[in-house]
Amino acid sequence: MGPFKGRDIIDINDFSKEELLFILKLAKKFDPQYVRRKRSNYLLLRGKIAGLLFFEQSTRTEQSFRSAAQRVGMGIIGFNDPESTSIHKGESFSDTIRIMDSYADCLIIRHPESGAARQAADVAEIPVINAGDGPNQHPTQTLLDLYTILKEAAKLENITIALMGDLKYGRTVHALSIALSHFKVKQIFISHPSLKMPEEFIKILKERRVEYEEFDNLPARLKADFLYQTRVQKERFNNLKEYKRVKDQFILGKDFIKYLDKGLKLMHPLPRVNEIDPVLDAHPNAVYFKQARNGLYVREALLALILGRIK
Ligand code: NCD
Repeated sequence: MGPFKGRDIIDINDFSKEELLFILKLAKKFDPQYVRRKRSNYLLLRGKIAGLLFFEQSTRTEQSFRSAAQRVGMGIIGFNDPESTSIHKGESFSDTIRIMDSYADCLIIRHPESGAARQAADVAEIPVINAGDGPNQHPTQTLLDLYTILKEAAKLENITIALMGDLKYGRTVHALSIALSHFKVKQIFISHPSLKMPEEFIKILKERRVEYEEFDNLPARLKADFLYQTRVQKERFNNLKEYKRVKDQFILGKDFIKYLDKGLKLMHPLPRVNEIDPVLDAHPNAVYFKQARNGLYVREALLALILGRIK
């Protein structure tokens, strides 16, 4: 296992199975469900500063990073509206990164272009966390997804997970599929034929001999422990007509309760548009709000690791 101090968190492929499990184990130490005494981590990273660079919209990722950083005592600088910065005056991406690099101890970046986080890490001397780069990856979401699966199933082996919706443009499902390929997990892909899991990710599953299936409809007898529903990523479509044609294919309504009653757990990275009817929210097996909360613990653990306060 490589050292975590000073490390960039850019691509889930950079992490071994052992490292993924180590992060998940550490996240438990920040989760009130597992920590008996009411413990404050406020002194852990006191005096350190997180620099947030959100070139693209976010609710959960940005706010949970803000909350996680403050829970471990960090200060926060940054922006979520690039138009309010000197980028508006024509400042280059690398100059913006260089400046933020000199004001903070780690950078957390979200950007609409694939590869932007890697580019930032090449310029910055301090560790950089990818909070989503276009349709490419979203590794901290993947870690919180794994953490949620582990918490809900009490294991990460011998389970079946169905990923549904926009498997073409959804960065969360790309990185999750790769991460799950380290474990004995069967993956089921459900999408419109035009939104299938891209070949580059299927290739990884084939190389690792992971069992998977593809469907263009929700199978009536879906045999899975989890269904990971996703939003059709409107902002990634060049053609709005095409988006409208495929956007409403997989809406989970009231009749989906029968699956939940049978024990299937429903996840979603959120935000949802209309793909999960709020009538399902109260069901104990609808775990998407718990999933979002789990992001706090995973992000607290990661910040402590890359800033070298926990080894
Ligand atoms: C996801 C994202 O930004 O990729 N949201 C998130 O970070 N929780 C999913 C999405 O936008 O559909």
